[in-house]
Amino acid sequence: MMTYLERARAKARALIEKGSATLLAVESSCDETAVAVVKDGRQVLANEISSQVDIHALYGGVVPEIASRMHVEALSPLYERALAASGLGARDIDAVAVTFGPGLVGALLTGVSFAKALAYGLDVPLVAVNHIEGHVSANFIADPSLEPPFVCLVASGGHSHIVNVTRYGCYELLGRTVDDAAGEAFDKVARVLEIPYPGGPLLDKLAETGDEKRYRFPRMHTEGKYDYSFSGLKTAVINQAHTIRQNGGEIEAADWAASFRCAVVDALLDKALLAARDTGAERFALAGGVASNRLLRRETLRRGTEMGLKVFMPPASLCTDNAAMIGAAGFYRLMNGELAGLDLNAQPSVRLIEE
Ligand code: KG4
Ligand code: ZN
Repeated sequence: MMTYLERARAKARALIEKGSATLLAVESSCDETAVAVVKDGRQVLANEISSQVDIHALYGGVVPEIASRMHVEALSPLYERALAASGLGARDIDAVAVTFGPGLVGALLTGVSFAKALAYGLDVPLVAVNHIEGHVSANFIADPSLEPPFVCLVASGGHSHIVNVTRYGCYELLGRTVDDAAGEAFDKVARVLEIPYPGGPLLDKLAETGDEKRYRFPRMHTEGKYDYSFSGLKTAVINQAHTIRQNGGEIEAADWAASFRCAVVDALLDKALLAARDTGAERFALAGGVASNRLLRRETLRRGTEMGLKVFMPPASLCTDNAAMIGAAGFYRLMNGELAGLDLNAQPSVRLIEE
């Protein structure tokens, strides 16, 4: 008798032969539970998401235990909704893709367990997807013409990477943050302005009405040519705010937000575009939650196009956590014959590229 994995391998070979597959994708790495149905890595048939931010906002940040419990409650209904929205039946699903890391271990485990049970129940291949690779792959959904090679700036709540996507599933790390991620810096500075969690999107909105030249913040210094460091900037901005307030002064919140946003976006793009130029890239893409930042999007288009780069960015809804991006990344892993077994475990600190 064939084992599950042997049957999955045989099915995967047939799908690779056909060059086509419909994936059901699951994402639960942080505070968003999401299930999507994606055909051939590019066509989104359903993209269901259930956000927990309202609950975590009460605590000023993600509470891991609450996140895990809420994922468990949300997964089955989201799966039903996604299938219904796709117009497909469970038997039309060719493979299951799931985020296995990086993220919160308990949160990841809920999605991984769900996906394993589903893959086993449907008797289809299981594909393990790195969350960061998912973010990068959102670009394949947004623009069907995009193919590697391209340079991608991935900026999220936990990561800030500049990667060279040399082939599907192949990444060269050009630069990364040595301390805080860009999204983390946005969230922490937002707290000083008493903007509720998650601060990034609201700080961005506030910044739209502010004067970015009003306040001066320090420039970034790092050893690596393409590396980031947001901790110094974040601390300087927070300390400066405390000093002004201690001296009885007031902070003009919109101007403060605009000046800080401008400093982060300049820093992100200076290095990412330098890396793109030095590697001779013709295409440049944005990814991750911070890629929904309005100024980052405008400046990437302006500066990237000026340099002669073809610029790509997913719509804001595909920049923040979602399962469609996991389905896109999973398709290319599947086509590469990279299957997971039922012993798949969550890997909370897994990297995109071994350093
Ligand atoms: O990629 P993501 O949804 O989750 C992680 O994988 O971390 O990114 C979330 C991060 C948060 O730090 C959030 O504040 C930030 O992205 N973010 C933004 C914006 N939208 C989300 N930061 C700045 N401007 C935005 N518009
Ligand atoms: Zn993310």
